[in-house]
Amino acid sequence: AFEVELKKSGETVTVPEDRSILEALRDAGHATSSSCESGTCGTCKTRLLAGDADHRDMVLMDEEKGDFIMICVSRAKSGRLVLDL
Ligand code: FES
Repeated sequence: AFEVELKKSGETVTVPEDRSILEALRDAGHATSSSCESGTCGTCKTRLLAGDADHRDMVLMDEEKGDFIMICVSRAKSGRLVLDL
């Protein structure tokens, strides 16, 4: 598991191994946009403010990977991610 910090609300959500970031946010009561939930459509694109992301999508260009994350499939390599949510 790893944690995501939601910058705007100051909240921290734990993402278990068997849940996506998107699912964990929904479990915590956050409305999040998604469509494909398989890393291909781009709907769930979220600004990444800090952290070491493990990108698993097919959408982001390499130059975007420091600033954005697709939260339906991607995860943290370690520690925590800070999202602009
Ligand atoms: Fe389609 Fe995440 S919901 S890329």
